[in-house]
Amino acid sequence: MQDIVKELVELYGPTGREEQVAEYIAKIMRPLVDEVYTDALGNLVAVKRGSANAEKIMLAAHMDEVGVIITDIDDNGFLRFSNIGGVSPFTLIGQRVRFADGTIGVFGQEKLDQIKDLKFSKMFIDIGASSRQEAEAKVSIGDVAVYHREFTLQGQRVIAKSLDNRIGCAVLIETARRLQASPHELYFVFTSQEEVGLRGARTAAYSLNPDYGIAVDVTGTGDTPEAHRMAVSLGKGAAIKVKDSSVISHPIVKDLLVKTAKANGISYQMEVLERGGTDAGSIHLTRSGVPTGAVSIPSRYIHSPSEMVDLGDVDNCVRLLVAVLEGPWA
Ligand code: CO
Ligand code: ZN
Repeated sequence: MQDIVKELVELYGPTGREEQVAEYIAKIMRPLVDEVYTDALGNLVAVKRGSANAEKIMLAAHMDEVGVIITDIDDNGFLRFSNIGGVSPFTLIGQRVRFADGTIGVFGQEKLDQIKDLKFSKMFIDIGASSRQEAEAKVSIGDVAVYHREFTLQGQRVIAKSLDNRIGCAVLIETARRLQASPHELYFVFTSQEEVGLRGARTAAYSLNPDYGIAVDVTGTGDTPEAHRMAVSLGKGAAIKVKDSSVISHPIVKDLLVKTAKANGISYQMEVLERGGTDAGSIHLTRSGVPTGAVSIPSRYIHSPSEMVDLGDVDNCVRLLVAVLEGPWA
């Protein structure tokens, strides 16, 4: 599983350009399920069929990662950019980004009186070009770049870019792999465009029309020095979502997750995320409403090039999902 996580995080997959990630996951999922397809918005759907009256459960993990998009190229070959998804200019100082073709850029900034004045409009990307023409040979307006960082495993802790949400994708893959028999019809959906407003999950949920939904994504923690108060820590188990800004978990799903964790001795913690959303936000508002909850992987430094998760938490998330999918729901 560690090899899959390493390969997943190092893939290029900004919002709207999830093809490489989808292709990689499709190869692994095909032998594990009955059908795999990609829909119009780039969601990858893997279906494990159930009996005719089986409950239909949609599991969703988004494939896209945050990035920057090129808005302008100047006469000296410096690139101006904006963000795709939640990126802070302060996170970018000193970092590298990678374009689809492998071109590497570094961030620079204009002279500032105070560092707090830093905004995207005061920053640029330098790809080492010395003229507009030289830059345009490599990069075009509208091209998107993602953080350029290698995967690191240090003890139980993974440090990498785009663990939001390739770690969720890895959890779904591993769940499908460990699952013995399920009485349900299962849709493993690897969604597109979560980082700009839970978009892929919206059309996938409409199309699949599930009875229940579970999103699998990262959540924040409150366990670092002087952190914002949050009762979630790295290494303390799977996080069962109570709420975030996009969803209040349905009691049917939330309570079933808690009951299942307790019955199977799986470490868990309750997650109240004050800011941020997940695919559950789209799924639960589909058609006449879908009871939906979420299983979250605690993560530090979300949307930075060095996010951090604990492999014990990852394992607890997989065990919880396997147990809940193998048991009865209704
Ligand atoms: Co995110
Ligand atoms: Zn996410």
